[in-house]
Amino acid sequence: MNGLLQNQTVLVVGRGSGFARAIVLAARAAGAAVVAAGRNQEALKAAYADEHEVSVEYLDLTDDDSIASLSGRLGAIDHVVSTGSARARGRIADLHRDEVRLSFDTKVIGPLMLARYFAPRMSAGGSFVIFSGVAAVKISVGTMAVAITNAAADALARSLALELAPIRVNAISPGVVDTGAWDALGERGKAKYFADMSARNPVRRIGTVGDIADAVMFALTSSFLTGQTLHIDGGEPLT
Ligand SMILES: NC(=O)c1ccc[n+]([C@@H]2O[C@H](COP(=O)([O-])OP(=O)(O)OC[C@H]3O[C@@H](n4cnc5c(N)ncnc54)[C@H](OP(=O)(O)O)[C@@H]3O)[C@@H](O)[C@H]2O)c1
Repeated sequence: MNGLLQNQTVLVVGRGSGFARAIVLAARAAGAAVVAAGRNQEALKAAYADEHEVSVEYLDLTDDDSIASLSGRLGAIDHVVSTGSARARGRIADLHRDEVRLSFDTKVIGPLMLARYFAPRMSAGGSFVIFSGVAAVKISVGTMAVAITNAAADALARSLALELAPIRVNAISPGVVDTGAWDALGERGKAKYFADMSARNPVRRIGTVGDIADAVMFALTSSFLTGQTLHIDGGEPLT
């Protein structure tokens, strides 16, 4: 335990696995009390059954009542990390308005509403970390809706950093990491995609959840950092 988040409370929104879980465990290791919030209470409780300093709460990023209700229940909080996403992959012909809207609702409007309801309860030393993604800067056919969602999340981080100051707001833009987010490709498809990406990336590998949790810890604890997107992507946009 390095103690950098000692006596601080961190709210992590998302699922009980993937980046969210790595961030919860890293925040605990840094001494924070952690609230893990998301839609699937059973999965979250199971994920943190052995973590006595992690409490589980309900929150749906598309439901303002659930956000307002949790902010009321928690009271004072130091940091909020939002990892939730509902990505709409596909070419134009595959994209439906509802899916694109849900992508924005979850990754952009949801975090905006987290800021609206939680910032008034945060101290001047508090911060938000929201999630963007490499698709915003590495444009490719088939990921347009993901790209525009992530670009909006980057703009949101800068906008909130100014309006909520001195509360700090930053975004993390991960590259490809095997969190389960790519399972739709199937085992063989995933293996091929990761091998291709590893060969192309300047760092010659895909990312790990630890790479991303380290960046989140840096953003939470760097008191001179705000309005930034940290690109933790192995250099993928250079290729
Ligand atoms: N993994 C990657 O390679 C990669 C690359 C670039 C960017 N990212 C970004 O990094 C973040 C985390 O990625 P990840 O791979 O760990 O997870 P992910 O596969 O993107 O899953 C995010 C989770 O968000 C939860 N969620 C969806 N809608 C929600 C809502 N309305 N309210 C609350 N939670 C909701 C879902 O969990 P439940 O079903 O349990 O609610 C979902 O499993 C995301 O923003 C993602 O877009 C990931």
